[in-house]
Amino acid sequence: MSDGSIRKVAVVGCGTMGIGIAIVAARGGCETLLHDTEETRIAKAREDAAAFLARSVKLERLSQQEADAALARLVPAPHFDALASCDLVIEAVFEDQRTKELLIQRLDSLCPVSTVLASNTSTLSITRIAAASRHPDRVIGLHFCLPAQLMKLVEVTPGLNTAPAAFERAWQFCLAVGQIPVETQDSPGFVLNHFVIPLNNRAIRMVEDKVASAVDIDKAVKAAYGHAMGPLELVDLVGVDTQERLCDAFYPITLDPELACPNIVRQMVAAGWLGRKSGRGFYRYNDKQAFGA
Ligand SMILES: NC(=O)c1ccc[n+]([C@@H]2O[C@H](COP(=O)([O-])OP(=O)(O)OC[C@H]3O[C@@H](n4cnc5c(N)ncnc54)[C@H](O)[C@@H]3O)[C@@H](O)[C@H]2O)c1
Repeated sequence: MSDGSIRKVAVVGCGTMGIGIAIVAARGGCETLLHDTEETRIAKAREDAAAFLARSVKLERLSQQEADAALARLVPAPHFDALASCDLVIEAVFEDQRTKELLIQRLDSLCPVSTVLASNTSTLSITRIAAASRHPDRVIGLHFCLPAQLMKLVEVTPGLNTAPAAFERAWQFCLAVGQIPVETQDSPGFVLNHFVIPLNNRAIRMVEDKVASAVDIDKAVKAAYGHAMGPLELVDLVGVDTQERLCDAFYPITLDPELACPNIVRQMVAAGWLGRKSGRGFYRYNDKQAFGA
């Protein structure tokens, strides 16, 4: 009989966040299925994970054996039906209410009621996403931070209908894979994005207003606050398109002008300057691999 612990995970959406979340789950001992509507993303995610794990071995953070085992646990799942057998499905698809609702509906029809369905949304309501399910008691927010494979924090957010048992299983999963969970209310932006999105937008508007160069803005913030990355380096890592989606999801809920999408972000998205993933954002990149080790 199952003790309710999470052993088999699926990550849906193998973009910037999905890769890192999948590495965390696989490194933490879970068989981890990778699914995306674009098959090339699945292959790329596994390649990036392999490169990340190899760097972890080089830096002596993992043994070769641990890295090989983690990679073996990362299983491509191009067919949606394969997700049926998972204990936990974490969605990391586009930050768009309708996209997430449609996905939850499909998962709801596919997975047994014992499967916990988690959303990595940054700004949307877990209660509203859960309402797309006939079993909203199994839907929860698990908001990982970028890059998930290096950052320990996970904001764990129950919706109004989330069952205590689903919360407990998700919380125990975070601990089991070595993350640091914190509980937050189902409030837009949870805790972290109340700081991160306005800070990033301020730095972007400084670039628009030509207050200083991207390099100097980042240097100033890093030197003054001791941050590991400057806000513009962070936006390039987050994805300039994701920054646009985050603002477009967050601003209408709060009407906080600091959260409105800066014009330059829309222009950069139209130009294909999406940050690290496209090779150009506020900076230019040669290495588009997953970040760090
Ligand atoms: N980028 C960040 O810094 C960050 C941090 C924390 C949370 N988030 C949240 O994580 C989620 C994903 O963001 P991201 O930056 O990884 O986006 P991304 O654009 O890098 O990746 C999204 C992926 O989802 C796939 N996808 C879209 N619709 C799908 C569907 N219906 N089924 C399967 N795959 C689908 C896309 O093909 C793409 O590979 C969003 O909710 C975002 O708010 C992002």
